[in-house]
Amino acid sequence: MQDLRIGIIGVGQMGADHAERVVRRISGARLVAVSDPDLPRANALAESLSRPAGIAGATGSAAATGSASAQTGSSAAGGIRVIEDPLALIGDAGVDAVIIASPGFAHAEQLMACLEHAKPVLCEKPLTMDTESSLRVVEAEHKLGRQLIQVGFMRRFDPEYAALKQLLDSGELGRTLLLHNVHRNKSVPETFRSEMIVRDSLVHEVDVARWLFDDEIARITVHAPKPTSLVANGALDPQLAILEMASGAIADVEVFVNFQVGYEVRCEAVAEKGSATIGLGVDVLTKRAGQWGGAVPEDYRARFGTAYDVEVQRWVDATQRGEIDGPTAWDGYAAAAVCTAGIQSLQEGRPVEVEMARKSEVLG
Ligand SMILES: NC(=O)c1ccc[n+]([C@@H]2O[C@H](COP(=O)([O-])OP(=O)(O)OC[C@H]3O[C@@H](n4cnc5c(N)ncnc54)[C@H](O)[C@@H]3O)[C@@H](O)[C@H]2O)c1
Repeated sequence: MQDLRIGIIGVGQMGADHAERVVRRISGARLVAVSDPDLPRANALAESLSRPAGIAGATGSAAATGSASAQTGSSAAGGIRVIEDPLALIGDAGVDAVIIASPGFAHAEQLMACLEHAKPVLCEKPLTMDTESSLRVVEAEHKLGRQLIQVGFMRRFDPEYAALKQLLDSGELGRTLLLHNVHRNKSVPETFRSEMIVRDSLVHEVDVARWLFDDEIARITVHAPKPTSLVANGALDPQLAILEMASGAIADVEVFVNFQVGYEVRCEAVAEKGSATIGLGVDVLTKRAGQWGGAVPEDYRARFGTAYDVEVQRWVDATQRGEIDGPTAWDGYAAAAVCTAGIQSLQEGRPVEVEMARKSEVLG
């Protein structure tokens, strides 16, 4: 079987990480093109990844700050082409499949172009910025009669989350009643405002709750407790969300994106006959200088590196078979609907019902 020729759109932090992954760790695939309006960044990344691993020079996200001179149109560095226009990358005959890692506001147009050109696509969350545009994407894909979109909810591929899902599904602990989730980042840029905490961070636990309970979220309340004084932009941080499932089960989520310490994601499931917790970070415990403990990951790339590797490898393998193997466009739509209600709840200080189309009416 021929290698899958992948093009990546948006090579900031996440896109550069995926680019390095495809080049260095994924089998059955080749990175052939990247696109980013920041041409120096795209050129620096293409050049650094065209060098064999271990050769000095910028790699991965470090290349994102590179200072190569800007070029326009399409250029190539060691086989990885830089195509300025993301829609041209999608339509390019030399690109078999696309990874979208541009900011969320660009996803809708780029996803529609992937559908138009029948290109399989792994799209980073959020699917799109709102419920309506997400539903349009779901409907357009359904019209094609083939699933081409997989959404980057990578927690589903993390070994700990996967083990938790397997345990809960086995029924060994009885029915699952509650989920307690914690999602903390060391810090985020000042441009990361209150709504983004819902749409870009909480969205992961929205998907986790839908996936672990295998149920839709009917109602969401997002509380804004006393905010940290350590962010200057007035963002409501931390936030505490209550997700009420259609079955009556409940998930709570603390999201705190300026926690200062490091990246921490935890989930405890409480069931009828026991509980199970993941994300305790108890990898290696050390004792030194009068203290004991372990390390807190710096960011999501360190904590979920394995999950991203598994996610992308399984997406490549499934794409070669003409399938997807992970969260669907519908999952992206459902998460967008919950986040839209969550932002309204945050703004109005009250619980908000989630408004969603019926799956059977949209997908038959
Ligand atoms: N799954 C995860 O855990 C995870 C983690 C981080 C980010 N993400 C998602 O990945 C995406 C990118 O996030 P990031 O943190 O890398 O952001 P970033 O700001 O570091 O990078 C975004 C890149 O996209 C480029 N860009 C801007 N407009 C564009 C357009 N119209 N078309 C193509 N490229 C464009 C920017 O120049 C930049 O290089 C977002 O959707 C984000 O939510 C997912």
